Amino acid sequence: MPRKLFIKTYGCQMNVYDSGRMADLLAPLGYEETMTPEGADLVILNTCHIREKAAEKVYSELGRLRALKDQRKAAGGDMLIAVAGCVAQAEGEEMGRRAPVVDLIVGPQTYHRLPELVAQAHRVSGAVLDTDFPAESKFDHLPESQKTEGPTAFLSVQEGCDKFCTFCVVPYTRGAEYSRSVSDVLAEARRLVAGGVHEITLLGQNVNAYHGEADDGTWSLARLVRALADVPGLQRIRYTTSHPRDMSDDLIAAHGEIEQLMPYLHLPVQSGSDDVLKAMNRRHTRDVYLRLIERIRVARPDIAMSGDFIVGFPGETDSDFAQTIDLVQQTGYASAYSFKYSARPGTPASTAGAQVPEAVKSERLTALQQLLDAQQVAFNHASVGKTVPVLFERTGRKAGQLVGRSPWLQAVHVEADVAMMGKLADVTLVEAKANSLAGVLQAAEPAGKVA
Ligand code: SAH
Ligand code: SF4
Ligand code: F3S
Repeated sequence: MPRKLFIKTYGCQMNVYDSGRMADLLAPLGYEETMTPEGADLVILNTCHIREKAAEKVYSELGRLRALKDQRKAAGGDMLIAVAGCVAQAEGEEMGRRAPVVDLIVGPQTYHRLPELVAQAHRVSGAVLDTDFPAESKFDHLPESQKTEGPTAFLSVQEGCDKFCTFCVVPYTRGAEYSRSVSDVLAEARRLVAGGVHEITLLGQNVNAYHGEADDGTWSLARLVRALADVPGLQRIRYTTSHPRDMSDDLIAAHGEIEQLMPYLHLPVQSGSDDVLKAMNRRHTRDVYLRLIERIRVARPDIAMSGDFIVGFPGETDSDFAQTIDLVQQTGYASAYSFKYSARPGTPASTAGAQVPEAVKSERLTALQQLLDAQQVAFNHASVGKTVPVLFERTGRKAGQLVGRSPWLQAVHVEADVAMMGKLADVTLVEAKANSLAGVLQAAEPAGKVA
């Protein structure tokens, strides 16, 4: 009897990758993925702890699931509810107490044990808990078979973080920095390409701190990217998220030299004020960041910059915030993410004295987002008229429409035959909208890769 599995994913791309691997792990046990929790035998919430709102969403979802589970029980069945990811890791047993409906709590570094944990959860009453940081790596225990969906895929190459920014839970939820071996990563990339993938995004909480073991020593991310560029059929390589401190010379050079490495860089800065950066323990100044971007643009003049910002960090003054606005104006972002500071339990900044009032945070966020939105619109408008290679990833909302990505990660809507799905083709960009562009298909085969 096939069993039904529903996974809901919150948070970052690493969670998206992990959710895929959890489904791969459970498939041999007869679990087939479904799109809704109704009728599911096993529900996994793969959670995010980064901001309070993200963590709270999990509890409201658990409330809804409780009703579904009760219904199923009344009908003589059952529904196992598992919480995975960073909230599971951070809250552990406390989550079992707060939400007794949860049958299984598993952290990001132990989900390779899911098959046995699920069996155990069926046997015992009360929540089964596994939030270890085991000595063995989960990557050595995940199945090789990997379901690919469409022409793009994520590939986790690095996990955890040793930076300890004072606002951030990641070093606690994901543990110490760890890099997968080069052979492991290359083998997984080749399997993905064999499964029809043309674009791989390498993932890590600090992906550019990658230092993977190989037969001839330790490889940097730049060296890994160079090796991946030699995998036949892999047309595009991206990586995320990077820390300014780990933006090494060889990685900057790679942006100018490797055709497959896409001209888009997500490089969070968080703040434009040196005082705030220091209090955040970011270990770089605004000047270091701005000079880094200058050098990256020398190597790859058309690079699209992206970033993350936090407003209302404890102690942030109006003039600190003005420095952030100034940095954004100097940099010019193609896209960016900005957040109100959220105090997270156990992090040093959460107990700092000078917490910024909510109203001030909201005001600053609005001002920053207006500027970032305007920059995004300007970036998209500047692309109109260009003919660029687009990789078609999915069908659009309108019939006869496909959606793909430009090299700069812009979503492009094109009228094209569904046979073009998964293919790379030249598209002339004709209209810019706030979050996407409209394009017209040119040659069915691209004239060349990105110049
Ligand atoms: N490893 C990445 C990002 C990790 S979290 C990096 O170092 O850049 C993703 C983003 O969430 C961060 O870049 C930051 O902007 C935001 N974030 C992290 N903790 C936060 C907090 N306590 N409140 C608000 N935003 C936060
Ligand atoms: Fe969090 Fe800082 Fe590590 Fe990024 S570098 S994951 S923001 S502690
Ligand atoms: Fe969230 Fe954990 Fe990713 S806290 S952002 S899911 S590393």
